[in-house]
Amino acid sequence: MRSFVTGANRGIGKELVRQLLARGDEVEAGVRDPDSRPFAELASPRLRVHRLDVTSDRDVAAVAAALGDAPLDLVINNAGIYGGPRQSVAGGEFDFADAAHTFDVNTLGALRVSLALLPNLRRGTGKKLAHISSGMGSIGDNTSGGTLGYRMSKAALNMLARTLAVDLRADGIISVAINPGWVKTSMGGPSATTSVEDSVRGVLQAIDGATLADSGEFLDWRRPRFPSW
Ligand SMILES: NC(=O)c1ccc[n+]([C@@H]2O[C@H](COP(=O)([O-])OP(=O)(O)OC[C@H]3O[C@@H](n4cnc5c(N)ncnc54)[C@H](OP(=O)(O)O)[C@@H]3O)[C@@H](O)[C@H]2O)c1
Repeated sequence: MRSFVTGANRGIGKELVRQLLARGDEVEAGVRDPDSRPFAELASPRLRVHRLDVTSDRDVAAVAAALGDAPLDLVINNAGIYGGPRQSVAGGEFDFADAAHTFDVNTLGALRVSLALLPNLRRGTGKKLAHISSGMGSIGDNTSGGTLGYRMSKAALNMLARTLAVDLRADGIISVAINPGWVKTSMGGPSATTSVEDSVRGVLQAIDGATLADSGEFLDWRRPRFPSW
């Protein structure tokens, strides 16, 4: 199996790389700053690191060129940001430029990478696109409000997952959104309820178990499905 992971230098992305390597996969890791040697302790002949800011068309094209005809079995769109503090509708606090950047990273970034790597996915046998979403992207589950920029970006990512599932079904490509839980990373913070190791084990189990029948669904790290879109 050859897998591609974005936002792979820390947090959930780095643990994805670690667990994929541990099970014997070839891993292509997209990171914004490869010079920081993010995988010094994970060095493996099965790991290749690419410079990849998912908002950069140039970076995405360079990654596609570096991969050439190599087949990919799995692409995990993991790179994400939470956005800044001004995401409240109360008191004119909303920062539109920040929300647009969050959308560029979390949503358009996943689309850029998916489209660029489609030829490689078509050549692979796994044929899976997994988009790391969030319970905060669920419309049905939203009773607490707030964090509007991030929520909108992940709700739109869920739509991307579903639309790619429909549009790529004829190619046999599976596209799913996955909630990783509330995870102890820099984004999730120290109060988060889930270790990064457990979250990633659950995420990879969900991806491994996904078939064409699950394509277009919103999966969860510890349940068959997230309860609500
Ligand atoms: N932690 C949680 O509780 C939680 C819950 C639900 C969903 N998620 C989702 O899980 C994913 C991973 O989050 P995390 O908790 O691991 O967060 P994290 O520790 O903050 O890591 C975020 C990763 O995304 C990368 N990134 C940010 N902007 C990027 C860009 N423009 N291009 C490429 N990479 C970029 C970061 O790279 P740099 O080091 O270069 O900034 C970093 O590798 C995100 O999509 C997040 O929304 C997390």
